[in-house]
Amino acid sequence: MFPSGCEDRMRGIKIIGAGMYVPETVISNDWLSTILDTNDEWIYSRTGIRERRISVDKPNFWMAEQAALAAVRDSGIDPSEIDLVLAATCSPDYYYPALSCLVQHSVGAVNAAAFDINSACTGFINALDTASRFLEDGDYRNILVVASERLAPHCDYTDRTASILFGDGAGAAVVTKSGKPMWSYLSAKGDYFNALYCKTDHSRSNCPLLKDSDAYPEGIIDSEAKTHTLQMNGKAVYKFAVDAMQTAVTKVLEKSGLHTEDIDLYIPHQANARIIESAVKGLKLPEDKVYVNLEKRGNTSSACIPTCLAELKQAGRIKDGMKICLVGFGAGLTSGAIVFEQ
Ligand code: COA
Repeated sequence: MFPSGCEDRMRGIKIIGAGMYVPETVISNDWLSTILDTNDEWIYSRTGIRERRISVDKPNFWMAEQAALAAVRDSGIDPSEIDLVLAATCSPDYYYPALSCLVQHSVGAVNAAAFDINSACTGFINALDTASRFLEDGDYRNILVVASERLAPHCDYTDRTASILFGDGAGAAVVTKSGKPMWSYLSAKGDYFNALYCKTDHSRSNCPLLKDSDAYPEGIIDSEAKTHTLQMNGKAVYKFAVDAMQTAVTKVLEKSGLHTEDIDLYIPHQANARIIESAVKGLKLPEDKVYVNLEKRGNTSSACIPTCLAELKQAGRIKDGMKICLVGFGAGLTSGAIVFEQ
């Protein structure tokens, strides 16, 4: 049972469908060691990752569509009953239109509005929180939330610190109003924006007046920014991540009046097994309630959490009445946690 006094927080969600897509091409640590000065032992002991998948020839929107179609099929509702499509991505194929519009079209959600959310790896958390607030409004009954990332084109495969971490994939959920409680805690630390970034590429403009701007934000190094690949201060992100996960879980549990042991399932962002282990230890969470799948997937950014949800739902491990805690962090630097009863 949730504590009394939570009646005014009945903006809860129920996941009625979940789906995922992972690309076919597997990149093992051994393969990476053929193009980089690295090895399986180093990568596995520092990250918990053995392999990740990358989309060699399919764009991000295609992966998003596969996951979304699977989630809608799983939900059993007709696509015309979807009122809103929210897509989380930081690696879109197009600046515009929004990824959510492409997904809306391909799933046949003809009555849905659509917009995107970019908070990098925290994207699914922010999108799900947004969905719950739309569901409070009687105009919205079913919302498709999809998170999809194709990070391989962002990665610099001569950078052995960052490229080893990331993979591609997509996850999606169809959610509806549950009448049960839900809490969230969302946060951003924009002063750490330069700990993890990837600059847009306007170099192909043929406007004769345009120059590549040298007005980079303080802390972004021109020569690095110009590479248009993912740039990361691994140590700064690591430190932030362990602290942010603990803070987000502590704050959301404080809001709910629940204790760590009241939660049936924790799904953390799958960035690094050591980050998860440190946060789990700091929070004294029961390890058997924490779902981790990064060994075979790597960090697929916003797609990590919905991919876990889809795997768990397919395995029959998401049951009515369960209290679930999702917690994530990412570029921004952003972080957040959600607690809801399924
Ligand atoms: N293989 C072998 N050696 C490597 C290596 C690799 N893939 N990557 C780095 N090294 C080397 C470094 O060059 C350094 O060598 P040196 O001591 O001779 O200079 C040494 O290993 C230690 O490097 P360091 O950067 O201090 O490693 P680390 O323990 O901080 O681990 C990360 C690096 C990236 C695994 C870790 O910082 C991390 O996981 N950070 C968080 C990143 C993240 O999660 N980002 C996504 C957020 S959503």
